[in-house]
Amino acid sequence: MVETPDKIRALGVCYYPEHWPRALWAKDAVLMAQTGLQWVRIGEFAWSRIEPKPGEFDWAWMDEAIQTLGCAGLKVIIGTPTATPPRWMLDKHPDMLGVDASGNLRKFGSRRHYCFSHLGYRHECARIVQKLGERYGKNPHVAAWQTDNEYGCHDTVLSYSRSALRGFRDWLAQRYQSPEALNKAWGNVFWSMEYGEFDEIDLPNLTVTQPNPAHVLDFMRYSSEQVVAFNRVQTDILRQFTDKPLIHNYMGRTVEFDHFAVGADLDIASWDSYPLGFLEDRSDEGENWKQRFMRQGDPDFQAFHHDLYRRVGSGRWWVMEQQPGPVNWAPFNPAPLLGMVRLWTWEAFAHGAETVCYFRWRQAPYAQEQMHAGLLRPDSEPAPALGEAAQVARELAELPETACGRADVALVFDYQSAWGWSIQPQGKSFDYFALVFDFYRALRRLGLSIDILSPDDANLGDYKLVLMPGLMSLSAGLKKAMAAFGGTILSGPRTGAKVGTMQIPPALPPDISGLDCRVEYVESLRPGAEVSLAGGGAFIHWAEKLETSLKPLELTSGGAPALVGDGDRFYLAGWPDQIALNRMLKNLCNQENVATLDLPDHIRVRNSGPVRFVFNYGAEPVSFEGTEIPPAGVHWHRR
Ligand code: GAL
Repeated sequence: MVETPDKIRALGVCYYPEHWPRALWAKDAVLMAQTGLQWVRIGEFAWSRIEPKPGEFDWAWMDEAIQTLGCAGLKVIIGTPTATPPRWMLDKHPDMLGVDASGNLRKFGSRRHYCFSHLGYRHECARIVQKLGERYGKNPHVAAWQTDNEYGCHDTVLSYSRSALRGFRDWLAQRYQSPEALNKAWGNVFWSMEYGEFDEIDLPNLTVTQPNPAHVLDFMRYSSEQVVAFNRVQTDILRQFTDKPLIHNYMGRTVEFDHFAVGADLDIASWDSYPLGFLEDRSDEGENWKQRFMRQGDPDFQAFHHDLYRRVGSGRWWVMEQQPGPVNWAPFNPAPLLGMVRLWTWEAFAHGAETVCYFRWRQAPYAQEQMHAGLLRPDSEPAPALGEAAQVARELAELPETACGRADVALVFDYQSAWGWSIQPQGKSFDYFALVFDFYRALRRLGLSIDILSPDDANLGDYKLVLMPGLMSLSAGLKKAMAAFGGTILSGPRTGAKVGTMQIPPALPPDISGLDCRVEYVESLRPGAEVSLAGGGAFIHWAEKLETSLKPLELTSGGAPALVGDGDRFYLAGWPDQIALNRMLKNLCNQENVATLDLPDHIRVRNSGPVRFVFNYGAEPVSFEGTEIPPAGVHWHRR
């Protein structure tokens, strides 16, 4: 047995024993431990091997795999296999498949082929999770559990099935109690959309033109709650059998369900970080940026999700899957610059991750992901990332434990706003994630460490600066928290623009007490069109016309108020480009005595308790504060 130090920070790997001959398992386990890995996740797609026929279980292979891995000193995470129901499940539940917005069935033959609203399938999940809990809940080698795999992956939150329709009608009846109340809340007098009974209400797809935004928003809320309920079935069962942490692995730039709500039922949040895949697949940046960072990933994308999922996990979070080399699923799949796997791992630890697991141990020679790298090649020889993982494991042993610490600046992230603005963007380029991410990037350029808050956080704490761009509705609780908060708050654009039923507030947005300012009208701006600002930079995508008695701190070049404020409450009347954001945020930081830097795009810093980390996302060496940092380099020192 190979001894590894049991520190909070640890490395791990995702492993699929069912993909490999048993003769390899023990060798694999020993090499994992020798590399310095402490965790190994198994099982999350293995339903057809655990229960080959309905009610017939084959535990022998899984017992042996867990035993083999455990005896090598590894701690096992069992993933429940509910993201991949086997083919026979469809014979039991022919109507369990998801249905897309065009009404097409999402068929068997890949994964995530289930509808969250299907109660029969939920029951099957309860059954398999119960069996797993009974068998492995007290197994000494099993030290954590993962529910399902990547809720929402492949656009699976919204399903327009018969089950969803039934569930949605019930949900509406509970929420509104009477059709009259629903008609009023949705404004159904418009276009004669009034309903006489809940059973007349359909799902909001396949309408002639736009459905009522309130109808769609409620369907998104309902769908998000099905994810929460689906997950809770599993956590309620697992808790009867184990006191080990329960985890889910979320994704990057995925907003279709409320992660804070799912996270409330779990002990640790984790996410799957594929920096190069995400740059190709999910970044709004242009060609130059993508070329420049094609082997490193966007310098802010990983950090944003680290900070987001730290909050989703109430402080405890992991990277469950870390990209180790080229992936197979993005439009282009380059290899990471040598050193980046190490950098990504350290960046996660700098943001407070407890564990980083690489995906996957050995590249599979068959099926959908045969072109996806692992720590080993398909012939079991080391792939480049294996050495980088081993290096991090050695370095972990040297680095003193660091606490993640609390940042001076916080940014509110709200899933409902993402839904609201996707339903009613008002301009093609208005995207909530993109807006919040622009603010995040600007803060990182200023060298700041950032915490992310949920809009339900009743206490804004002792942050110096809290930013709330695009926060669609201000709940009574948040208004109270804002009133009690002693630091600076920057709201806008589009903050407080709707009440919860997606209507314009009677007193007009932003409806923030103490701020005498109303949005008279808004305009969305086509690409290339902008509203320039007198102080430099411009509003892009979005600008608002304010009626206000407040003193403007920034004006458009045409002399209209662009940023207004009263003491420590500010409202921003547009979506600033990076030049304008940089200036405005720097001024607010100065006012609050928060020190800032001016970092180039490829240098990022993160304070982690007493230690300060510096990351070079560039392909060239840089000299930073007197230290030479190589390409893909990580530097840390005591603050
Ligand atoms: C993740 C998923 C894994 C694997 C990986 C490939 O989204 O959880 O199962 O498919 O992507 O990059």
